[in-house]
Amino acid sequence: MPAEEIESTHRRHVCSPIIEPRSLVERLDLEKLFARNAPLHVDLGCGDGSFLCALAQRMPEKNFLGIERLLGRIRSAARKTAKLDNVRLLRMESSYAVRYLLPAGAAETFYLLFPDPWPKRRHWRRRIVTGDFLRAASRVLAENGTLRIATDHLDYFEKIKEAARTTRDLIVSERTDVDLPLTKFQEKFRAQGVPIHWLELRKVSPVR
Ligand SMILES: C[S@@+](CC[C@H](N)C(=O)[O-])C[C@H]1O[C@@H](n2cnc3c(N)ncnc32)[C@H](O)[C@@H]1O
Repeated sequence: MPAEEIESTHRRHVCSPIIEPRSLVERLDLEKLFARNAPLHVDLGCGDGSFLCALAQRMPEKNFLGIERLLGRIRSAARKTAKLDNVRLLRMESSYAVRYLLPAGAAETFYLLFPDPWPKRRHWRRRIVTGDFLRAASRVLAENGTLRIATDHLDYFEKIKEAARTTRDLIVSERTDVDLPLTKFQEKFRAQGVPIHWLELRKVSPVR
């Protein structure tokens, strides 16, 4: 696709996978953004991009979008993924992007790996996973698409399961057979011997 066509909907800096949507109230045109049509995987809170980079190299036939709110981390992710054609990055609140920017049925897989657990009770309202968030993610998932979640925090894990069980269209399963590259935080927890809890939420109803 000619560069000017990409420029017309998204300002993408030369040699950088970081995109800046022209509008914050219109859904992204993913085909234009990636210059091709392919199943989309989205890493929510992608941190420094190590996981995203490894996964995108493992599956060159899929498109990958990493979303991260911290500038330093999105810049690290951009450096790691600069040479990969199938990766784009968005510096933004994940929940905003899920609610307002991603089209219905667009994602084959979401990864939410080690979301900030906000362990103090008075901070729980800052946690990203709520019923509203799960309903928004479910709208964006394709039929049979999955939201894969990992956390080291047992209380958060239980709360996520509770919220998921009351979300129509999502089937919950706890997974132990996880074949994914290690994330930065997973490496850290592994080295400390901290148990990791995995959950897979599968979208079961047809896309509306
Ligand atoms: C604990 S780190 C995990 C990073 C990475 N997923 C990993 O496993 O190595 C959580 C990351 O999510 C980002 N983050 C937290 N809340 C976010 C939000 N609402 N939107 C976008 N990024 C968020 C943080 O800045 C941080 O980089």
